[in-house]
Amino acid sequence: SAGQDLTGRRVLISAGGTREPLDPVRFLGNRSSGKQGVALVQAALARGASVTLIAANLEVAVPTSVTTILVSSAVEMHEAMTLAADSAEVVIMAAAVADYRPKTVQLGKIKKADAGDTLTLELVKNPDILAGLAASRKPGQLIIGFAAETETDADRLLALGRDKISRKGCDFLVVNRVGHTSGATEGFGTERNTVTVLDRHGVIVNEASGSKMSVANCILDLIR
Ligand code: C5P
Repeated sequence: SAGQDLTGRRVLISAGGTREPLDPVRFLGNRSSGKQGVALVQAALARGASVTLIAANLEVAVPTSVTTILVSSAVEMHEAMTLAADSAEVVIMAAAVADYRPKTVQLGKIKKADAGDTLTLELVKNPDILAGLAASRKPGQLIIGFAAETETDADRLLALGRDKISRKGCDFLVVNRVGHTSGATEGFGTERNTVTVLDRHGVIVNEASGSKMSVANCILDLIR
């Protein structure tokens, strides 16, 4: 993709996976490494954009030249994204955000002796950050979401994506298959990715497969 075509554009990117605390030492998490989100940051910087990164528990290093706000939980990410979105022209929600968090966070470690043979966790829904940003979007703001799905059937995967973009209200949805249930070597934690980009009508506007950098550049091509 072209040299400095995003010069001065203010791009806000979330990356990584949230951790939902259970007690001072434990959390509910997911397998997102943050690689695709950080590739988006690198590609956007290379194309001249002014990038802010909201980073949740990344397993990869972040370019030093990017403004980074560290968060851990979905609630923290919600707060940081909502603030930062005020001055962003483009918002890309690449982070894997927990849909639920433990209803209570124990002040001390949860003890086996107190719980017994089974332990039931009560979870409450987290705010949907992407849907919230889309609902309160600034004029002209472009909002891009991700959908990581384990569905292996291509048609059903697309149907899930179409349903998701209508619920989220974003402009584009980047649909990718994740998980290793069928020996897959793409998605969470890996170097490569295969994605299908849907527009708000559920129409496929782009398909990309390759390194996370090349996929990042395809996603950034959506910015006009
Ligand atoms: O609903 P689902 O988690 O599959 O949606 C994925 C998209 O929504 C991703 O872009 C993710 O960053 C975003 N999301 C969010 N807030 C949540 C859950 C997901 O912004 N609570």
